[in-house]
Amino acid sequence: MPSPDELPDGLVVADGTARVIVFNRTATRLTGVAGAEAVGRDFRDVLPLFDAEGRDWWKCLDPYAGLAIRTRHPECSLYLAGGAEVLVTAAYRRDPEGRVERFTVCLRDAARRARQERDRADLVSTVAHELRSPLTSVKGFTATLLAKWHRFNDDQKRVMLETVNADADRVTRLITELLDVSRIEAGRLEMRRQVVDLAGETRRAIAGRVAAGEAEDRFRLETRGPLPDMWLDPDKINQILGNLIENAVRHGAGTVTIVVEPDAHRQGAAVSVRDEGEGIPPEAAKRVFRQFWRGHGNRRSGTGLGLYIVKGLVEAHGGTITVQRAPEGGAEFRFTVPAGAPDYP
Ligand SMILES: Nc1ncnc2c1ncn2[C@@H]1O[C@H](COP(=O)(O)OP(=O)(O)OP(=O)(O)O)[C@@H](O)[C@H]1O
Ligand SMILES: [Mg+2]
Repeated sequence: MPSPDELPDGLVVADGTARVIVFNRTATRLTGVAGAEAVGRDFRDVLPLFDAEGRDWWKCLDPYAGLAIRTRHPECSLYLAGGAEVLVTAAYRRDPEGRVERFTVCLRDAARRARQERDRADLVSTVAHELRSPLTSVKGFTATLLAKWHRFNDDQKRVMLETVNADADRVTRLITELLDVSRIEAGRLEMRRQVVDLAGETRRAIAGRVAAGEAEDRFRLETRGPLPDMWLDPDKINQILGNLIENAVRHGAGTVTIVVEPDAHRQGAAVSVRDEGEGIPPEAAKRVFRQFWRGHGNRRSGTGLGLYIVKGLVEAHGGTITVQRAPEGGAEFRFTVPAGAPDYP
């Protein structure tokens, strides 16, 4: 039997005489009343609740009198004695005569819910903002070109068109990333596993950067030990490697070292990507994986979705990702993925 203390919500149960019989740990956290202190007392004294006008909710509700047909109360937002807001639902169990046998109250931290809603609203406004700045530039340059075509020479036109082209790429990339984010959030990432040569994929990812103009001696690849057959989704692995290597090049400095090795338990593989730049301050280590988190002085370069997506893709493989300080001082991102197995046909 799981204990009520394991519940993420506060749970208070009273018997037929309104005495508390259960007062779980979350209820203690929310109210500050110890469980041992609460049990046996009238729940209305232990858990006073008020509505927005300051009225005593239990007086309004009168759970033990009132209509004997009531079975539950839908969620409403109320205030604890200390002023903290909680979301409250309640349910009755009645005997055949309609008398209350048990009254159960469930408490949810309203601040957490509000935070989630705020995060969502932030996401919408961030997305709108991120889309607007490249589109403003596209609109500005195309309008200028159309209005004053003959006043510019070919070089000037080329520069403007290159900017428009880069901004269009940026919008496309942002939208692609947002679609990934929504798939990750909805748990709808489809995995197509096949045997993937991790070292080979890493080599290819490096070759891609070199082809795009990066110096070849900026990268160092170390492969250690034989890996088991790795059943991974090659597109997603490429996306993970590409993102981490791009970050090391763009946000880091010096040589980018990539180590591919069996993980400690030999059940899979570990890949670390490290650089010699400024690294990530330890207090930001958790935040880098959040949506739209970007370091200081870095507001314009990326969207801040890269690492959030990387984490989602690694976790879709059943793996984990962490960041720490590299021996050379820069950032070291390390992910491990289990060897996996073929998809069920
Ligand atoms: N190797 C690194 N060294 C230093 N800082 C890094 C490194 N990798 C990531 N960061 C910091 O973490 C932030 C978030 O990275 P993330 O990849 O999520 O976003 P981004 O690179 O800014 O944008 P995107 O990848 O979506 O184009 C970066 O803006 C940067 O400040
Ligand atoms: Mg990035």
